[in-house]
Parts: sequence; C-alpha cells; structure tokens
Amino acid sequence: MGQQVKAVVAKAKGEPVEVVMIDVPDPGPGEALVEIKACGVCHTDLHYREGAINDEFPFLLGHEAAGIVEAVGPDVTDVAPGDFVILNWRAVCGECRSCKRGKPQICFNTHNATQKMTLDGVELSPALGIGAFAEKTLVAAGQATKVDPSVRPEVAGLIGCGVMAGLGAALNTGNVSRGDSVAVFGCGGVGDAAIEGARIAGASTIIAVDLDDKKLEWAKDFGATHTINAKSGDVVEQIREITDGNGVDVAIEAVGLPVTYEQAFYARDLAGTVVLVGVPSPEMKIELPLIEVFGRGGSLKSSWYGDCLPSRDFPMLIDLYLQGRLNLDGFVSETIGIDGVEEAFHKMEAGEVLRSVVVM
Ligand SMILES: NC(=O)c1ccc[n+]([C@@H]2O[C@H](COP(=O)([O-])OP(=O)(O)OC[C@H]3O[C@@H](n4cnc5c(N)ncnc54)[C@H](O)[C@@H]3O)[C@@H](O)[C@H]2O)c1
Ligand SMILES: [Zn+2]
Ligand SMILES: [Zn+2]
Repeated sequence: MGQQVKAVVAKAKGEPVEVVMIDVPDPGPGEALVEIKACGVCHTDLHYREGAINDEFPFLLGHEAAGIVEAVGPDVTDVAPGDFVILNWRAVCGECRSCKRGKPQICFNTHNATQKMTLDGVELSPALGIGAFAEKTLVAAGQATKVDPSVRPEVAGLIGCGVMAGLGAALNTGNVSRGDSVAVFGCGGVGDAAIEGARIAGASTIIAVDLDDKKLEWAKDFGATHTINAKSGDVVEQIREITDGNGVDVAIEAVGLPVTYEQAFYARDLAGTVVLVGVPSPEMKIELPLIEVFGRGGSLKSSWYGDCLPSRDFPMLIDLYLQGRLNLDGFVSETIGIDGVEEAFHKMEAGEVLRSVVVM
C-alpha cells in the first residue's frame, strides 16, 4: 500500500534540488518507517548532489536526522512505534568477518531498507542509505537508534552524522588523550565536533585551521586554544611554532582536499597520527615522499563515521549533552523548512552556517 510524502530529491548532477512527492512503502521484515522531525544539512549531501560520491541519481538527500518510529515490520523487536530515534548509517550485521571478530564498529555489511522508495516509479538512492529530508523515510530497523526523547530533535539528529563523525574522529580513530596536542583542518560541523572531541578527551593544545575568520571564532567556542587562518601564511610552520617546533600528536583533516591532507601530514609530530575524516572526490590524488611516511612513524588513518557504534555511542552522547558536558546547541546555526535545502547549500558554501537544520 505505502504512502506519498514530501521529500528533497537531487535529480541530476549539479542541478538544484527539488521538493517532490515520493512513494514510501509500508515497512516489511526488518524495516522501520520513521516520521522525520528534524534533519541537518551535511556537506556530504552537497557532495551527492554534485555527483562526487557516485552517479546513482536520483538521490533522496538528508541523513542527519531524528524522528519518531511510526510503524515497524513484522519481526522487528529493537524499536517500536512511538520511539524517539536518531537515524544511523551503520546498522551492523553481526555476521560479517569484522563483526565476528568483535569489531562491529567497522562492520563490512551494514543494513539498509530492502524495499525502495520511488519517485514516479523510479527507484531513489537514499543518501547514506537513509534519505531523511522527507516527511517519512523507510530504513532498516537497525538504522533507528532509540534515545532519550527529552532532547530537541534538531539537536539530537546532529549526532546521526557530522557530530558523531567529528567527535569519533578525535575520540575513537585518533585516540586523542589527556595532554595531547591536536590540529583540526576545516572548522565546519565535522571539524568543530572533532575540536569538541579533543577537548572532552583532555587535549591541552587544540589548533583550529580554516580559511574563514568567523569559523575560527566559532571553533573557539567548541574548545580551540589556538586558531590559524590558512590564508595567513605557512600553516605547517605556524603549527610547529605553537608546539615548540614539534608538530601535533594528532592532525585531523575535516575538509576532504589534498592540500589540507598534506598540511595535516607535515604538521604532525614524530609518531603522530593523521586522521582523514573529510571526504575526497574520486579524482583527487596526493604525492608524499615515501621516506617521510616511513621516517615519521605513527599512523595515517581514515575515519568513517568516527568509527562509531550507534547503539553504544548515541545514547551516551545524549547523556553527556543532558549533563551539560557536550555542546550540541552550538552547531545549530538556523532551522529551516523542507524547501530551504538548496539555499542551505549556498550558505554552507559561503561559510555562513555550521548546520542548517530542516525541521518538519
Ligand atoms: N568521514 C565521515 O564519516 C564524514 C561524515 C560527515 C561528513 N564528512 C565530510 O567532512 C567534511 C566536512 O563536512 P562539514 O559538514 O563540516 O562541511 P563544511 O562545509 O561545513 O566545513 C568545511 C570547512 O572547511 C573549510 N575549508 C575549506 N577549504 C579549506 C582549506 N583549504 N583550509 C582550511 N579550511 C578549509 C571551510 O571554510 C569550512 O569551514 C566533508 O568533506 C564531509 O563530506 C565525513
Ligand atoms: Zn558486520
Ligand atoms: Zn553527513
């Protein structure tokens, strides 16, 4: 039977997104239908619409969301109608070789809804298997993580992507610990969450790098102890100066560009860690002297979704927020309607916002 709902679709590469009516099937086995309350605009949505992720248009955009479960498929037991949930793009399978070795946070076979949502009969590709710039979306039940309903949806939803990715890049992938020095390249929603993660972990020096002075001011609110405008000269030199000539223990790239990756690579101390959380486009390349890769030791890592395990991390982060120990409110620059996504992309590109959040 299913139902028709309003949703934001990217029909073709680089074209403005459109609000259209899509068809959403009733939940089948293993699926949940979620009424979306709020969904943040993440740079990855823009990457999709630019064709930088893949060319499986039309995309149903939006993936940083919180909502209420409306209905579940016959065999679903983890969530029930009425539950307040944050959507996640890592519904772990429990059966792949990684899950079997006790590392579900890097599950190789995550679940999405089996049935497809459609536009005029054409199958939609939901961003990150979610698609939540929509009044309702169909997900695998494991993609809906139940959390404390006392948190505003526009705040809770942020944990579903950018905030989790940034926090986890610092806490899980980068293993930032007490007394560490950390540099974060790119101070958008993801970078600022990495800064906040470094602060929570007890880093003593947190250097924010961006091209935009406004972003650098905001970065201080999340815990940056130093800021560098990348237009102001040699970034690597400036990071060395701040760290007694050594470089940082953990360098987190949250832009997704070769230039910032190289800065991160050279700005780290001996045995330091580089974490790539920014998403590069397929044609990007870097060239690094192999002797530098070897000689500096340490590790070069990438961070997908902050190496999070949603069932473990989402409720914990909500608890930290309710205790006043995690600043989530600071990420919400504005709330907008479902017809405001295209404009939000422009604001994101112009550096005017950390997160525009669609509220249904
Ligand atoms: N790995 C993951 O799991 C994951 C999850 C979510 C988002 N992302 C990616 O993280 C990246 C950041 O996302 P966002 O939503 O924070 O984006 P954003 O657009 O809000 O922030 C990017 C920031 O980088 C800054 N910047 C651009 N060029 C720069 C340069 N040369 N030097 C320094 N700063 C520069 C911009 O001024 C901006 O403040 C994107 O590539 C996004 O796709 C990754
Ligand atoms: Zn698995
Ligand atoms: Zn995202």
